[in-house]
Amino acid sequence: MERRILRWGMVGGDLNAFIGDVHRKACAMNENAVLVCGSFSRRADRNQAVGMHYGLDPERVYPDYETMAAQEAAREDGIDWVSICTPNDSHYPIAKAFLERGIHVYCEKPLTFTVEQAEELKALAEEKGLLFGVNYSHSGNVMVHEARELVRSGAIGELINVNCEYFQEYLVDDIGNQDTEMLQLSSWRKDPEISGGSNCVGDICSHIEHTVSFITGMKLKRVCALLDTYGQPLDLNANILVEFENGCHGVFASSQVCIGHMNGLVVRLFGTKGAIEWVQEEPNTLKLTKKGQPTQILNRGMGYISPAAAGMERLPFGHPEGLYEAFANMYRAFTYAVLKKVNGEELTREDLDFPNVDDGIRGVRFITASLKSSRNGAVWTEV
Ligand SMILES: NC(=O)c1ccc[n+]([C@@H]2O[C@H](COP(=O)([O-])OP(=O)(O)OC[C@H]3O[C@@H](n4cnc5c(N)ncnc54)[C@H](O)[C@@H]3O)[C@@H](O)[C@H]2O)c1
Repeated sequence: MERRILRWGMVGGDLNAFIGDVHRKACAMNENAVLVCGSFSRRADRNQAVGMHYGLDPERVYPDYETMAAQEAAREDGIDWVSICTPNDSHYPIAKAFLERGIHVYCEKPLTFTVEQAEELKALAEEKGLLFGVNYSHSGNVMVHEARELVRSGAIGELINVNCEYFQEYLVDDIGNQDTEMLQLSSWRKDPEISGGSNCVGDICSHIEHTVSFITGMKLKRVCALLDTYGQPLDLNANILVEFENGCHGVFASSQVCIGHMNGLVVRLFGTKGAIEWVQEEPNTLKLTKKGQPTQILNRGMGYISPAAAGMERLPFGHPEGLYEAFANMYRAFTYAVLKKVNGEELTREDLDFPNVDDGIRGVRFITASLKSSRNGAVWTEV
């Protein structure tokens, strides 16, 4: 394939933003694309200072995303894709603006507020023949790919139960307290106008939903959810029973008020022949237990890792890989597909092996169904 350095732009990701910074650094690890433009802040007056910090041509630092989409689409050397790293409320209008201008999109999760918005974006991307990646970043981890390879190979047999958690403690002071908003980073997560209908489920349980479906291929059929708000406008704690289309059952528990936990995503998959456990805070290992045998700890970087997963590794064994590498792997898959598109080449199924707009839609369906279930008294609700 002909290789040229791709050009990309970013919306969101001001100097003090969390995830935009990870996108920029992780994308740079692939050395196949250069950030050429952006609209980094909701505050138009901040953009030039940010652009200067990133070494951008001031002409390509825009006061807002609409101007950026219009002007980049009109340039001969316009961007090949845009990454959307803003809070949840703006994903839909920003993605729509760039798709309408014929620009590929890579967007943060949760994709949109409503299922209808997400489906509209899918229809638009299809109509324009554009790629649409959604940053469910945990599926960029090598050992998550290894878990998928193990499930596909039948190593744990038929899946019979799933038990996952995503526990954080950082909002515990919100319980019974109305004055904490300014104390925490990213307080927009607690604001329904910006975050959407959910905080905890949308922000973190959505990662469980995607990581499980990525590893197992199983899709959710219905949920029975009990969400706790502790007097706040949005949920801070969620206990959700789930049923997949194939009849497998499970539990997704997520919380922002669990003392002792920082970013504790744990995925446990139980099959008829074995079990797998992956812990996000120890991403370089994977627990595999085959029926009747002692538990094995598989390490990234070792010769026994499947070629599909090992092909994603960036460092030799014993040198930890983490969040940046997972994001970089997501970008490697997405940008490879963008480059093929730019070159006018046919894309294969393998080229499209990154979370896409369909995953984004499923995520919004999951959040919507969980909210509805809880509102109705924790009744089973179709996803
Ligand atoms: N995939 C992951 O692992 C992961 C992790 C964290 C956050 N996220 C998602 O990333 C998104 C951003 O989260 P964050 O923690 O970085 O938030 P943040 O508040 O730290 O940063 C958001 C940035 O977007 C900018 N912004 C807001 N509206 C804008 C607009 N209209 N135009 C230009 N810039 C605008 C803000 O000025 C800020 O710089 C959220 O949707 C969140 O769910 C994903």
